[in-house]
Amino acid sequence: MATQSIEVRPVAGALGAEVSGIDVSQPLSAQQFAALHGAFLDHQVICIRGQMLTPTQQIAFARQFGEPDIYPFIKGLPETPEVIEILKTEKDTVNFGGGWHSDTSYLERPALGSMLYALETPTAGGDTMFASMYSAYDALSDGMKRMLSGLIGVNSSAQGYRGGRAKKMKELDGMKDKYIENSEVSVAEHPIVRAHPQTGRKGLYVSRGHTERFKGMTAAESKPLIDFLADHAVRPEFTCRMRWDPGTLIFWDNRCTQHFAVNDYHGERRRMHRITLVGDRPV
Ligand code: SIN
Repeated sequence: MATQSIEVRPVAGALGAEVSGIDVSQPLSAQQFAALHGAFLDHQVICIRGQMLTPTQQIAFARQFGEPDIYPFIKGLPETPEVIEILKTEKDTVNFGGGWHSDTSYLERPALGSMLYALETPTAGGDTMFASMYSAYDALSDGMKRMLSGLIGVNSSAQGYRGGRAKKMKELDGMKDKYIENSEVSVAEHPIVRAHPQTGRKGLYVSRGHTERFKGMTAAESKPLIDFLADHAVRPEFTCRMRWDPGTLIFWDNRCTQHFAVNDYHGERRRMHRITLVGDRPV
């Protein structure tokens, strides 16, 4: 068991921290778990560099924080179905996750968090951006907060890629063999403002990527406010940007953040392993 002390260094004003002094391939001591979990709740996104993780070790790390889920649209690795491979090849011009979203917000119990581990990274680019939905909510006027209270979003997995998720996935050289044919469209209704089950803080829970409309309204009626909220949610001052190297592991909290995989490295490969953890029903 590692005995180094953990250091946590914030990377931006709103969210994100670099964590050092830990080898996550080994079981965490109670003290290490408390430090890491505390950093995760405080900073919403934690980045741990220089890790050597097999898929089995990544799952063992993930299990200390929750229950690894099975992602409904992409086949997992044969021996470890909880781990999906996210690959953009030299041939691809579209990437997976290249729009602001919170993972699986279209499920009844959306992902608590996601753990993404980098295996191959481009020479430059391929960063992931994150935005704090606490900061986005806090910055709204009292009038807007009142208006949003009680509003329910209808989130759909079909919304993710314009023209349909299945069609888009099949166009991706790195992902087309992994797509689960005929997977059902998932739709779930969740509050537009959700309270984090562990911190109690309120955050916006709406994205252009997944939120189709508000419950009781048409898509056309909903669109102007969804567009406003989606743009507001990712204002630069609510974001941070994380750079990847092989061996970087980033664990983000989907209950209070959105993320965006930047697609600026055409002609190069980027290969990652992702695990999502089962979350609560948002309230
Ligand atoms: C995702 O949306 O989970 C993928 C993020 C990334 O590849 O940076």
